[in-house]
Amino acid sequence: MKVGIIGQGYVGLTIASFAAKSFEVVGFDKNQKVVNQLNSGISHIEGVESADLQKWIVNSRYRASTSATDLSDADIVVIAVPTPLTNNRKPDLSFIDTACRTIGENIHKPILVINESTSFPGTLRSFIKPSIEKYSLGQVEHLYASSPERVDPGRTDFNQSNTPRLYSGLTSEASSKTKDFYSKFCDNLVEVSTPEVAEAAKLFENTFRQVNIALVNEFAQITHALGISVYETLDAANTKPYGFMKFTPSAGVGGHCIPVDPTYLAAVAEEHGAPATFIRRANEVNLEMSEYIVRRVAEDNGGSLQGKNVLVVGVAYKPNVADVRETAAELVIQHLRSQGAVVSWHDDVVGNWKGEDSAPLNGADIAVVVTKHDSVDEKKLLASAPYVFDTTGKVKGAKGL
Ligand SMILES: NC(=O)c1ccc[n+]([C@@H]2O[C@H](COP(=O)([O-])OP(=O)(O)OC[C@H]3O[C@@H](n4cnc5c(N)ncnc54)[C@H](O)[C@@H]3O)[C@@H](O)[C@H]2O)c1
Repeated sequence: MKVGIIGQGYVGLTIASFAAKSFEVVGFDKNQKVVNQLNSGISHIEGVESADLQKWIVNSRYRASTSATDLSDADIVVIAVPTPLTNNRKPDLSFIDTACRTIGENIHKPILVINESTSFPGTLRSFIKPSIEKYSLGQVEHLYASSPERVDPGRTDFNQSNTPRLYSGLTSEASSKTKDFYSKFCDNLVEVSTPEVAEAAKLFENTFRQVNIALVNEFAQITHALGISVYETLDAANTKPYGFMKFTPSAGVGGHCIPVDPTYLAAVAEEHGAPATFIRRANEVNLEMSEYIVRRVAEDNGGSLQGKNVLVVGVAYKPNVADVRETAAELVIQHLRSQGAVVSWHDDVVGNWKGEDSAPLNGADIAVVVTKHDSVDEKKLLASAPYVFDTTGKVKGAKGL
């Protein structure tokens, strides 16, 4: 069996790394640089080891390609391409459409197409299938299934094997073949009745996080106004053994999923005349958090940040990864600069971002910690500026939420 995986980013390469144990895998990506790097045995994704990649390449279990014809003899194709928002914050299915075109124009025998990209309910049935049929001029009848990805890059306790995986095909044959595929590397498969349920469940999982993060971010502002510690209060609430789940405040949400997926759910809800006011407001609260933090920092520093050297520590959206997509650090930096601060940032995991290099961890007037990587020495961090504001709750001795 040959498996083609369209998109060799966080999701696609992670799936490839598990699938290569049982199948011959072609990792198709439009980015020549990524493909060259992968074929030279270098992984660009946390959790996928270069040594493993090299092993599969040598054993002919894996190769990356920019050539769509390499997919033409695949038996299964997995779509793992980005699903971002457009400039006016609407679902952008253009990457999925291009992936459908690749399949439609290059695969001329019936195969199983599985979508792992996150999107709104109905994407498989009403967008992917018709799109592939359009590009293949209706000449091939493929099987279609949806199995939304749950990977959490950088996480070591849960992976493809032990994270339950939802799936559903448009037909029972598609469901059954999807089960056969994933059962080679996932121990816990959960079939749901339709692809729409799988698609909606994925969006709800991330909306649940977004809403709870917004709630705790709002709560942090309330506890500060009341003069009590948000962390002590959360720990106190967390002693309740049922009906409570602890979330911690932060500078906002980042990454490809939490700031984006709820907007997919809100968009489809509104299209169907259902309200999504709560989801929309949660998104706003998270976005407003960066402004609140800058206001707090200014208040503690005589009311003005004009001309102050501010070092933002950690620009990745979460600890121990280099991913800066939708990072809250971007808004924090924007607000600091709009207040006249001279801003640099320190993040050796990211290294270079937006044409700027990571600055040394010292010599600032003010340091604002947005993300705390394990590799960042806490003592050095506290010594990097006379005033350190920590948004993560991890740096003891710093000012914070
Ligand atoms: N990153 C995560 O933690 C995560 C977790 C669960 C689900 N998802 C979802 O999975 C999907 C993929 O996300 P990701 O994080 O892997 O993205 P990514 O940006 O890391 O990787 C996407 C890759 O696809 C390639 N690509 C884009 N369009 C292509 C095309 N038409 N043909 C070939 N290659 C193409 C890009 O060059 C890139 O290498 C998204 O829908 C995302 O929401 C991501």
